[in-house]
Amino acid sequence: MSKASISIFKPTYLPKAGGYKGGKSLSEVKAKIGKKKLYKLSSNENYLGASPKAKKAIRAAINDLGLYPERTDVHFRKALSDFYGCIMSPDQFVTDNSGVALLEMIERAFLNPGDEVIICNPAFKPYYMFAGKLGAKAIDVSMIGKNYDLDIKGILKAITKKTRLLFLCSPNNPTGTHIPQSQLDELLPQIPAHVVTIYDEVYYQYADAEDFTIGLPYVKAGLNVIAVNSFSKAYGLAGLRVGYGYTTEEIGRYLAQVRRPFHINTLSMDAAQAALKDKSFIKKTVSLVQEEKQYLYKALDKLGVKYWKTQANFITIKPKMNDKKLEEAMLMQGVMVRPVANFGAKGCIRVTIGDHEANKAYIKALRKVLK
Ligand SMILES: Cc1ncc(COP(=O)(O)O)c(C=O)c1O
Repeated sequence: MSKASISIFKPTYLPKAGGYKGGKSLSEVKAKIGKKKLYKLSSNENYLGASPKAKKAIRAAINDLGLYPERTDVHFRKALSDFYGCIMSPDQFVTDNSGVALLEMIERAFLNPGDEVIICNPAFKPYYMFAGKLGAKAIDVSMIGKNYDLDIKGILKAITKKTRLLFLCSPNNPTGTHIPQSQLDELLPQIPAHVVTIYDEVYYQYADAEDFTIGLPYVKAGLNVIAVNSFSKAYGLAGLRVGYGYTTEEIGRYLAQVRRPFHINTLSMDAAQAALKDKSFIKKTVSLVQEEKQYLYKALDKLGVKYWKTQANFITIKPKMNDKKLEEAMLMQGVMVRPVANFGAKGCIRVTIGDHEANKAYIKALRKVLK
């Protein structure tokens, strides 16, 4: 092959630009640890699996796999509008094959090379990744204090004419902390109209703090806010890849122009609509997490391990041991956990809340490893 003097590759897509490295896969790990029972607590999936109603919908939809999906996602968006009590019209919803696909679509929709996005570290890595690939610049306004509070003044100061997106995440991955409603009430009305706020609320079902809020009040108030949701967490459909957002009619109609034709698959749409109706599955899922997080707090206190109280389905800890070494040692005990230094939380490990058996196994392994 002749070497071109002008590169055919876009520099922002080359490996050195940095990609997303997800947690280790189950098969990779099983090959490593052999027959030992394995507890996967590294990706914040639902330990109860998927809603039975969603599985039934998938089985029914399988017969039509030869056909293209509905030309648009209109039925899915109508189901989402119903789910929110019809407070928002179907045009205010946007769907995609996963939360990250939606985040990517939103960034593609709003960012030009040279634009700026504001990210509050520690934060979900793909926010950066997509911005970088589009040639935009990420401005970090790190959270402050030992409880990871939003730096409201810092955010307002960081906004320039080039700022297009502000990323907020509540409950936040990887800290598990939330942004109190009073802080959002203070910040969001001050965000200038040329900036769109992405409010990532994919763990909202697990939040039980009195001052927690989803993004709905701000969308209803007509602010430029897009709330991002996923079916990978409480709905237990991570393998299927389906997510959605809701926003103002103006932004919703704009995003409808950005999406690809037939952008979401039939199985995703049918399963997600069934999952939305399965309220008892969500109740069971959330109760398990609420109950088990109390068990884990007590066990971590007993072990003297630093952790952050969580509003999500994971607890982030800061053990007095090198994070990579701890990950490896836990793996050898059959427990997969996730170091989150690459999310901006140095020395921290994020651990999904499992069922009682898994959580007991995690604590037993941690006790052994930290000895
Ligand atoms: C904060 C946050 N946002 C978005 C997502 C995307 O979820 P998915 O792409 O599985 O829908 C995740 C997944 O881990 C997440 O933690």
